[in-house]
Amino acid sequence: MAFPFLLLPGVWILAVSVTVAVQEKNPLAPCLPGPQGPPGNNGVPGHNGHNGLNGEKGEKGLRGEPGSTGTRGPQGPPGKLGPMGPKGESGQPGPTGPQGSPGECSPRQKSAFAMKLAKNYPAPKQPIIFHQILYNDQQHFDKATGIFTCQIPGVYYFGYNVELYRNTTIIQLMKNSQAVIGSYQTTLNSYENMSGSTVLKLEKGDKIWLEVNQESNGATHTSYFLGYLIFEI
Ligand SMILES: *[C@@H]1O[C@H](CO)[C@@H](O)[C@H](O)[C@H]1NC(C)=O
Ligand SMILES: *[C@@H]1O[C@H](CO)[C@@H](O)[C@H](O)[C@H]1NC(C)=O
Repeated sequence: MAFPFLLLPGVWILAVSVTVAVQEKNPLAPCLPGPQGPPGNNGVPGHNGHNGLNGEKGEKGLRGEPGSTGTRGPQGPPGKLGPMGPKGESGQPGPTGPQGSPGECSPRQKSAFAMKLAKNYPAPKQPIIFHQILYNDQQHFDKATGIFTCQIPGVYYFGYNVELYRNTTIIQLMKNSQAVIGSYQTTLNSYENMSGSTVLKLEKGDKIWLEVNQESNGATHTSYFLGYLIFEI
């Protein structure tokens, strides 16, 4: 396309020159129309037109493929505290702790005895001799004399249980030759028990024993005498 434009100036000069030459050669000749000239050369191409209007909006495109997985984000803040769980089972008991130091109180003193008569019909008007020891670790009851002698001032419990057979029996608990309590009962051809008990406040050296007051008593071997310290004073 660039070729014809380069030749254009030369062509125009030739056409003008031919016309001038014809008119000067015969100025008076009637003006008859000359033969039709050859078609002219192509004109200069026009300028570019204006931009067209925008086209209509196209249709929606197809959905694209899912993108690739992104990189892991930073760790978020800790979540809220959850609700409290159920109570667990009890654990095993712990080991025994060391023994504590002694308290202010002095160690508790001990005094106790329990005797069994073991022979029928004890001698009257004197401390009853008990022949069988059930308990007498502190030896405060004298088996030989049948007398308990107080070693620890305090409040004591004393009791007896005497089984009787026939005859009338009066039995008395004595404190330093004074009757404190007593029991009276008559039996004929049957065995019966009679009992008594009391609490006494004793000083050191006080003496306690049991006594029957009649020759014809019916105390059998199944008779008991006991006593013990309740608390010191
Ligand atoms: C009397 O009591 C003693 C126990 O203290 C018992 O062995 C005996 O059988 C009793 N006697 C009677 C007649 O209940
Ligand atoms: C009561 O005791 C006396 C003296 O020990 C005796 O002679 C008498 O036979 C006894 N009575 C009975 C019913 O056993």
